[in-house]
Amino acid sequence: MNNTILAPSLLSCDFSNIGEALKLIENKNGSWVHIDVMDGIFVPEITYGQPILRSIRPLTSMPFDVHLMIEKPENQIESFAKAGADLITFHYEAAVHHHRIIQHIHSLGKKAGISIVPSTPVSAILPILPFVDLVLVMTVNPGFGGQSLIPECLEKVSELVSYRKEKNLSYMISVDGGVNEKNAKDVISYGVDVAVSGSAFFSGALSWSAYDKK
Ligand code: DX5
Ligand code: ZN
Repeated sequence: MNNTILAPSLLSCDFSNIGEALKLIENKNGSWVHIDVMDGIFVPEITYGQPILRSIRPLTSMPFDVHLMIEKPENQIESFAKAGADLITFHYEAAVHHHRIIQHIHSLGKKAGISIVPSTPVSAILPILPFVDLVLVMTVNPGFGGQSLIPECLEKVSELVSYRKEKNLSYMISVDGGVNEKNAKDVISYGVDVAVSGSAFFSGALSWSAYDKK
């Protein structure tokens, strides 16, 4: 379990005190801060953007794992990189020129991720896999925290693990959506490298005590 990076999602934190939320994450070993950016078009709601990143960036040295759930992600890459993102993940379904976007992210010195919604098969992203640093497998339809994990999506993690080995690739595999106290062990057993956790982490329902700093 501890080999998997924990990436708590700020989406479920108390926004009146983001600094405190970052401290909670910092109490865990080796965590990333998962930042869900929504535009009200690709997904129904709007969350936050570059100004929030800029203002919280000085508060921590933890990596910022930015998950763009937005249309036309290509228009936002440079400003998110400048605002303090370390890893920028965009949706396969929201873009056409995937390789160009990945190259752009890399040219800014950042890591690039591709994400797929539950209805998109792994086969759709095979041409992209040699170029990305991370694949984010959505286990809920993106847009809200606190939804139930769709177990069938976990098969995609197995596929990605096998394909990575077969082709000698090095992308990390992240799972996002509905990871809770009941299913966390099972989810991680599929071979995920990064586990995103929003509502379970910030409600305290899943303490992730294995990650506690001694
Ligand atoms: C959903 C977001 C997730 C979300 C996860 O659209 O991408 O990162 O915050 O939250 P939980 O763990 O509550 O499903
Ligand atoms: Zn996310």
